[in-house]
Amino acid sequence: MRRPIIQTENMNYTYPDGTAALRNINIEIMNGERAAIIGPNGAGKSTLFSHFNGIMQPSSGRIKIDGKSITYKKEELIKIRQKVGMVFQNPDDQLFSPTVEEDVAFGPMNLGLSDEEVEKRVEDSLSMVGMDGYEKKAPHHLSGGQKKRVAIAGILAMQPEIMVLDEPTTGLDPKGVEQIMDILYELNQNDMTIVISSHDVEMVTEFANKIFVLNEGQIIKKGTPQEIFNDPETLKKAHLKQPKAAELLNLLKNNGTNVNIKLTVEEAYHEILHAIGADAYHNLLHLVHEKHHHKLLHALGPEKYHQMLHILKEEQNNENH
Ligand SMILES: Nc1ncnc2c1ncn2[C@@H]1O[C@H](COP(=O)(O)OP(=O)(O)OP(=O)(O)O)[C@@H](O)[C@H]1O
Ligand SMILES: [Mg+2]
Repeated sequence: MRRPIIQTENMNYTYPDGTAALRNINIEIMNGERAAIIGPNGAGKSTLFSHFNGIMQPSSGRIKIDGKSITYKKEELIKIRQKVGMVFQNPDDQLFSPTVEEDVAFGPMNLGLSDEEVEKRVEDSLSMVGMDGYEKKAPHHLSGGQKKRVAIAGILAMQPEIMVLDEPTTGLDPKGVEQIMDILYELNQNDMTIVISSHDVEMVTEFANKIFVLNEGQIIKKGTPQEIFNDPETLKKAHLKQPKAAELLNLLKNNGTNVNIKLTVEEAYHEILHAIGADAYHNLLHLVHEKHHHKLLHALGPEKYHQMLHILKEEQNNENH
């Protein structure tokens, strides 16, 4: 059964210097969802994320995790942080142990797991993010992308119910992005709720089933990727762009081609094939090769069938000469 797992009610946060970073935030994320918060630099994404596991406390309004308001008592905060695993935007805020393996082991050890279980989780999660072999290395000697991977491994090792990742793919190479997003997708298939923030519209389109657009501390729109990325006004306001596939289809559409706007390359490919009639062409070729002449005759009607035979025959003659 789907139930709200993260909810905020009229949540505001103002920094001590008077910056109103979050204004009247009302969001609801259901368990098992893949949600994304998108918005420009300074919109308040990281501030919002720090509220998800109780690192920051709203100035007013409230946040509920799994139906319960966070009360910010010490014992409760420990439980919340086990339930909500948080990967920070900057891995330097997260990595502090002398070696990679100690860093990844830190969380599971605090859960009171056996040595063997901790060891297994460290090994598994480092290998999931492609960082096996780096166990003895000092985190501050790693590259930016490697640090990010280790920070993600540290949270994976805790096997939280909800994983919240502030810009998980920043600094990763394209293969790394794919690897991390595949892991998150798979964890989600096993019912983990995943919340990410990002400016990467291509990645968000492929990954999220629900998107919130945050701008100047306010949620200005929520919806499916289709709803968000077909709303140029909202995108402009939030300094975001459409995915490239949608841009291309928009160009075609504005030039009179009969296409619907799709967001991913895969969907756009089929939309374009359909529009140029390539689908029908491929089907026909298939039937010709399979020598289903009776089916062709039926599909085309006798006149078109004979026309086609004629064309094919001419083509064959040309090839033979
Ligand atoms: N410690 C702080 N004290 C005062 N203001 C802050 C503090 N941290 C952030 N802010 C301000 O709060 C606003 C929201 O910042 P936040 O880091 O949440 O944005 P963001 O959406 O995560 O941006 P980015 O895409 O650059 O990571 C910004 O205007 C920022 O200047
Ligand atoms: Mg941020």
